[in-house]
Amino acid sequence: MNERPTTPREDPLESLYPGPMSDTVTAPATLPKANEACWCGSGRKYKRCHKKLEGRVLPGVVSPMRSVPADIPRPPYADTGEPEPWDEPRIKSPEIIERMRHACDVASEVLRLSGEKVAPGVTTDEIDRYVHDLFVERGAYPSTINYHGYPKACCTSINEVICHGIPDSTVLQDGDICNIDVTGYIGGVHGDSNATFLVGSVDPESQQLVRVTEECIWHGIEAVKPGRPLSDIGQAIENHAKKYRYGVVRAFVGHGIGEQFHTDIQVLHYYDSRATTTMRPGMTFTIEPMITLGTVNYKVWDDDWTAVTADGRRTAQFEHTILVTDEGCDVLTGGPGAVSPTAPWNR
Ligand code: MF3
Ligand code: CO
Ligand code: CO
Repeated sequence: MNERPTTPREDPLESLYPGPMSDTVTAPATLPKANEACWCGSGRKYKRCHKKLEGRVLPGVVSPMRSVPADIPRPPYADTGEPEPWDEPRIKSPEIIERMRHACDVASEVLRLSGEKVAPGVTTDEIDRYVHDLFVERGAYPSTINYHGYPKACCTSINEVICHGIPDSTVLQDGDICNIDVTGYIGGVHGDSNATFLVGSVDPESQQLVRVTEECIWHGIEAVKPGRPLSDIGQAIENHAKKYRYGVVRAFVGHGIGEQFHTDIQVLHYYDSRATTTMRPGMTFTIEPMITLGTVNYKVWDDDWTAVTADGRRTAQFEHTILVTDEGCDVLTGGPGAVSPTAPWNR
């Protein structure tokens, strides 16, 4: 999603990560007692140093960037790392829409298959390798590779990670929740979808967060109607989240999509009367709410990608690529291969 220039209002955990994040990868299996010296070698007591990171997701080792076979067509940024600015039409031609249907079918299939890999003991790097190979087998370029320098074929965001977690040596643990966000480029267009998966047996509070987050995206989708303002989407999502006193992340938003990964349309997941852009048939954009148990404020790791909740509480996300139609919308990434227990037709 696009990052908006939002300054977190509160940042109570400025000192959450005691040293450079690279120091935190070596936490030992047996932890010190509170008053003993911290394992990181800072000389500080454990309770004054890394203790507050117990139970947190920590950065692991990121494996080298993998290449994509040269015969697979690449988006323009694949070699430079930076997308070229271009005002792509907001209303897509029927021909572009057909190509987007295919890219979105590929993305939703890859998402479903990668979700089947999620289990305790699996690393996020293994999930990424699988996603990479699934896209390549289907003739698609994994859109995230080298997008603004991003190194991997998907994002894997565990527990308090809001979005943009980089797949690495981190081992999924029983009880985690893990979002996988996949985007594929094929036929000159992108398809973008994500889902949060349960790792083994998950506590009821997190299960409810994941279920309600998926309900939120479907409430947002049901608000897509030609002639209505984009603000209807955020309003529907926020109203549902509020029933559970959940937070709606404001710093990351849905986006227009097509020949480019991210275009100028912004889809807020909360209500803002200024989101007056009228939805029109032929528009394509994502809806990808991030819902939190606690604060919606966030921090970004030293890798400049991984966004985590400022309070370390859990957060979940679902994403679909949407086409506005004359009647309402088509969920381009919601085809037969997509799994959605809380979609309207499954409720
Ligand atoms: N797929 C994400 C989205 O929903 C974007 C990831 S961009 C990356 O918009 F560079 F972080 F991979
Ligand atoms: Co997106
Ligand atoms: Co995405």
